[in-house]
Amino acid sequence: TFVVTDNCIKCKFTDCVEVCPVDAFHEGPNFLAIDPDECIDCTLCEPECPINAIYPEDDVPAGQEGFTALNKELAKAWPVITVRKDALPDAKEWENKPDKLKLLER
Ligand code: SF4
Ligand code: F3S
Repeated sequence: TFVVTDNCIKCKFTDCVEVCPVDAFHEGPNFLAIDPDECIDCTLCEPECPINAIYPEDDVPAGQEGFTALNKELAKAWPVITVRKDALPDAKEWENKPDKLKLLER
């Protein structure tokens, strides 16, 4: 499966959602999660994210391994998103800031 990681938090550009052939993306207040039970590893979403927040499960950055389980948990709780929307208002300020997990809203 592919995994949305820390850098998406407080940015949520949503460029990733429209390319997914199986509608695997789910939307929360300030983060997206991929449902691992839907993802077919097509790889299309990874290059769409302007801040490189999406990784294959086997290539999640060190220290962010917990995002794999977190994507699964949150995808089950949040609705599907298939249409791109505006990024969060302060996305440009938050992009590439480290350790945003504590700011995740559920
Ligand atoms: Fe969807 Fe493909 Fe990304 Fe999986 S790898 S979430 S199937 S676009
Ligand atoms: Fe997040 Fe990047 Fe998609 S910021 S919403 S993973 S385009």
